[in-house]
Amino acid sequence: WPHMAIALLFGYLLGSIPFGLLFTRLFGLGDIRSIGSGNIGATNVLRTGNKGVAALTLLGDVLKGTVPVVVAADWSFEAALIAGLGAFLGHLYPVWLGFKGGKGIATFIGVLLGLSWPIAVAFCAIWLVVALITRFSSLSALVASALTPVVALGFNQPKLAVFTVLLALLAWFKHRTNIARLVSGTEPKIGARS
Ligand code: G3P
Repeated sequence: WPHMAIALLFGYLLGSIPFGLLFTRLFGLGDIRSIGSGNIGATNVLRTGNKGVAALTLLGDVLKGTVPVVVAADWSFEAALIAGLGAFLGHLYPVWLGFKGGKGIATFIGVLLGLSWPIAVAFCAIWLVVALITRFSSLSALVASALTPVVALGFNQPKLAVFTVLLALLAWFKHRTNIARLVSGTEPKIGARS
Protein backbone atom coordinates (compact mmCIF):
# COMPACT_ATOMS: atom_id res chain seq x y z
CA TRP A 1 0.00 0.00 0.00
CA PRO A 2 2.87 2.54 0.40
CA HIS A 3 3.05 2.55 -3.40
CA MET A 4 -0.65 3.44 -3.56
CA ALA A 5 -0.27 6.29 -1.06
CA ILE A 6 2.74 7.67 -2.94
CA ALA A 7 0.89 7.36 -6.27
CA LEU A 8 -2.15 9.19 -4.86
CA LEU A 9 -0.04 11.97 -3.35
CA PHE A 10 2.18 12.36 -6.43
CA GLY A 11 -0.92 12.55 -8.65
CA TYR A 12 -2.57 15.04 -6.33
CA LEU A 13 0.51 17.29 -6.22
CA LEU A 14 0.76 17.48 -10.00
CA GLY A 15 -3.01 17.71 -10.47
CA SER A 16 -3.29 20.61 -8.06
CA ILE A 17 -1.05 22.88 -10.19
CA PRO A 18 -3.58 25.46 -11.45
CA PHE A 19 -2.15 26.09 -14.93
CA GLY A 20 -5.07 28.31 -15.97
CA LEU A 21 -4.48 30.62 -13.02
CA LEU A 22 -0.67 30.59 -13.41
CA PHE A 23 -0.64 31.19 -17.19
CA THR A 24 -3.26 33.96 -17.17
CA ARG A 25 -1.28 35.74 -14.42
CA LEU A 26 2.01 35.18 -16.24
CA PHE A 27 0.63 36.67 -19.46
CA GLY A 28 -1.00 39.62 -17.71
CA LEU A 29 -4.61 38.59 -18.32
CA GLY A 30 -5.68 39.18 -14.72
CA ASP A 31 -7.16 36.71 -12.24
CA ILE A 32 -9.05 34.08 -14.21
CA ARG A 33 -11.30 33.52 -11.18
CA SER A 34 -12.89 36.93 -11.74
CA ILE A 35 -13.47 36.39 -15.48
CA GLY A 36 -16.44 34.62 -17.12
CA SER A 37 -17.51 31.54 -15.17
CA GLY A 38 -14.64 32.08 -12.74
CA ASN A 39 -13.36 28.59 -13.55
CA ILE A 40 -9.60 27.96 -13.89
CA GLY A 41 -9.95 25.75 -16.99
CA ALA A 42 -9.11 26.29 -20.65
CA THR A 43 -12.74 26.99 -21.63
CA ASN A 44 -12.79 29.98 -19.33
CA VAL A 45 -9.27 31.12 -20.27
CA LEU A 46 -10.55 31.28 -23.87
CA ARG A 47 -13.04 33.92 -22.66
CA THR A 48 -10.09 36.29 -22.18
CA GLY A 49 -9.80 36.19 -25.98
CA ASN A 50 -6.26 34.75 -25.83
CA LYS A 51 -6.33 31.45 -27.71
CA GLY A 52 -2.62 30.74 -27.12
CA VAL A 53 -2.92 30.94 -23.33
CA ALA A 54 -6.10 28.83 -23.49
CA ALA A 55 -4.19 26.20 -25.51
CA LEU A 56 -1.29 26.28 -23.01
CA THR A 57 -3.75 25.79 -20.15
CA LEU A 58 -5.34 22.85 -21.95
CA LEU A 59 -1.92 21.29 -22.56
CA GLY A 60 -0.77 21.77 -18.95
CA ASP A 61 -4.03 20.43 -17.50
CA VAL A 62 -3.92 17.37 -19.82
CA LEU A 63 -0.26 16.55 -19.12
CA LYS A 64 -0.59 16.82 -15.33
CA GLY A 65 -3.02 13.90 -15.63
CA THR A 66 -0.89 11.86 -18.00
CA VAL A 67 2.48 12.16 -16.23
CA PRO A 68 1.58 10.65 -12.82
CA VAL A 69 -0.38 7.83 -14.52
CA VAL A 70 2.54 6.89 -16.77
CA VAL A 71 5.04 7.07 -13.88
CA ALA A 72 2.86 4.97 -11.51
CA ALA A 73 2.15 2.42 -14.27
CA ASP A 74 5.68 1.15 -13.62
CA TRP A 75 4.36 -0.21 -10.32
CA SER A 76 0.99 -1.58 -11.43
CA PHE A 77 -2.19 -0.78 -13.31
CA GLU A 78 -3.92 -0.17 -9.97
CA ALA A 79 -1.22 2.32 -8.95
CA ALA A 80 -1.73 4.10 -12.27
CA LEU A 81 -5.47 4.34 -11.56
CA ILE A 82 -4.80 5.74 -8.08
CA ALA A 83 -2.30 8.27 -9.49
CA GLY A 84 -4.91 9.33 -12.05
CA LEU A 85 -7.54 9.69 -9.34
CA GLY A 86 -5.06 11.78 -7.33
CA ALA A 87 -4.41 14.08 -10.30
CA PHE A 88 -8.12 14.47 -10.98
CA LEU A 89 -8.87 15.27 -7.31
CA GLY A 90 -5.90 17.66 -7.26
CA HIS A 91 -7.37 19.63 -10.15
CA LEU A 92 -10.88 19.63 -8.67
CA TYR A 93 -9.82 20.37 -5.11
CA PRO A 94 -6.36 22.03 -4.98
CA VAL A 95 -5.21 22.76 -1.44
CA TRP A 96 -3.38 25.87 -2.75
CA LEU A 97 -6.66 27.50 -3.84
CA GLY A 98 -8.66 26.66 -0.72
CA PHE A 99 -9.87 23.49 -2.49
CA LYS A 100 -11.67 25.60 -5.13
CA GLY A 101 -10.42 24.04 -8.34
CA GLY A 102 -11.58 23.30 -11.85
CA LYS A 103 -14.08 20.98 -13.47
CA GLY A 104 -11.62 18.30 -14.51
CA ILE A 105 -12.22 17.68 -18.20
CA ALA A 106 -8.70 18.33 -19.55
CA THR A 107 -7.22 16.31 -16.70
CA PHE A 108 -9.77 13.52 -17.32
CA ILE A 109 -8.46 13.36 -20.91
CA GLY A 110 -4.86 13.38 -19.67
CA VAL A 111 -5.50 10.53 -17.22
CA LEU A 112 -7.20 8.50 -19.97
CA LEU A 113 -4.28 9.20 -22.30
CA GLY A 114 -1.93 7.59 -19.78
CA LEU A 115 -4.21 4.63 -19.06
CA SER A 116 -5.55 3.78 -22.52
CA TRP A 117 -5.02 6.23 -25.36
CA PRO A 118 -7.82 4.87 -27.59
CA ILE A 119 -10.34 5.70 -24.85
CA ALA A 120 -8.84 9.21 -24.60
CA VAL A 121 -9.25 9.60 -28.36
CA ALA A 122 -12.87 8.43 -28.08
CA PHE A 123 -13.47 10.97 -25.30
CA CYS A 124 -12.07 13.78 -27.48
CA ALA A 125 -14.09 12.62 -30.49
CA ILE A 126 -17.36 12.62 -28.52
CA TRP A 127 -16.48 16.03 -27.04
CA LEU A 128 -15.76 17.42 -30.52
CA VAL A 129 -18.93 16.08 -32.11
CA VAL A 130 -21.14 17.56 -29.36
CA ALA A 131 -19.16 20.82 -29.42
CA LEU A 132 -19.46 21.16 -33.20
CA ILE A 133 -23.21 20.59 -33.00
CA THR A 134 -24.07 22.60 -29.89
CA ARG A 135 -21.08 24.95 -29.24
CA PHE A 136 -21.37 24.27 -25.51
CA SER A 137 -18.11 23.21 -23.84
CA SER A 138 -19.92 22.07 -20.71
CA LEU A 139 -22.49 19.94 -22.55
CA SER A 140 -19.71 18.33 -24.60
CA ALA A 141 -17.86 17.55 -21.36
CA LEU A 142 -20.97 16.13 -19.71
CA VAL A 143 -21.81 13.85 -22.65
CA ALA A 144 -18.20 12.70 -23.17
CA SER A 145 -17.69 11.89 -19.48
CA ALA A 146 -21.00 10.04 -19.21
CA LEU A 147 -20.24 7.91 -22.28
CA THR A 148 -16.63 7.09 -21.35
CA PRO A 149 -17.51 4.16 -19.03
CA VAL A 150 -19.53 2.67 -21.91
CA VAL A 151 -16.56 3.18 -24.24
CA ALA A 152 -14.30 1.47 -21.68
CA LEU A 153 -16.65 -1.52 -21.58
CA GLY A 154 -16.57 -1.54 -25.38
CA PHE A 155 -12.79 -1.82 -25.18
CA ASN A 156 -13.25 -4.70 -22.69
CA GLN A 157 -11.76 -2.69 -19.80
CA PRO A 158 -14.16 -3.26 -16.86
CA LYS A 159 -11.78 -1.75 -14.28
CA LEU A 160 -11.50 1.41 -16.38
CA ALA A 161 -15.27 1.47 -16.72
CA VAL A 162 -15.73 1.54 -12.94
CA PHE A 163 -12.92 4.08 -12.57
CA THR A 164 -14.39 6.42 -15.18
CA VAL A 165 -17.85 6.22 -13.58
CA LEU A 166 -16.22 7.76 -10.50
CA LEU A 167 -14.49 10.48 -12.53
CA ALA A 168 -17.67 11.20 -14.49
CA LEU A 169 -19.73 11.55 -11.29
CA LEU A 170 -17.20 14.03 -9.90
CA ALA A 171 -17.11 15.95 -13.20
CA TRP A 172 -20.92 16.14 -13.35
CA PHE A 173 -21.01 17.38 -9.74
CA LYS A 174 -18.45 20.08 -10.61
CA HIS A 175 -20.55 21.12 -13.62
CA ARG A 176 -23.72 21.63 -11.56
CA THR A 177 -23.86 25.39 -12.21
CA ASN A 178 -23.32 24.73 -15.94
CA ILE A 179 -26.15 22.18 -15.87
CA ALA A 180 -28.44 24.80 -14.29
CA ARG A 181 -27.43 27.32 -16.99
CA LEU A 182 -27.94 24.78 -19.78
CA VAL A 183 -31.42 24.01 -18.44
CA SER A 184 -32.33 27.70 -18.13
CA GLY A 185 -30.84 28.50 -21.54
CA THR A 186 -28.20 30.93 -20.22
CA GLU A 187 -25.02 28.89 -20.79
CA PRO A 188 -22.60 30.82 -23.06
CA LYS A 189 -21.26 29.17 -26.19
CA ILE A 190 -17.57 28.35 -26.70
CA GLY A 191 -15.37 31.40 -27.12
CA ALA A 192 -18.10 33.94 -26.32
CA ARG A 193 -16.38 36.86 -24.60
CA SER A 194 -17.75 38.00 -21.29
O1 G3P B 1 -14.70 21.71 -18.96
C1 G3P B 1 -15.06 22.95 -18.44
C2 G3P B 1 -16.22 23.40 -19.19
O2 G3P B 1 -17.01 22.28 -19.42
C3 G3P B 1 -17.02 24.46 -18.53
O3 G3P B 1 -16.23 25.57 -18.24
O4 G3P B 1 -15.86 27.93 -17.73
O5 G3P B 1 -17.85 27.23 -19.05
O6 G3P B 1 -17.74 26.71 -16.63
P1 G3P B 1 -16.94 26.93 -17.88
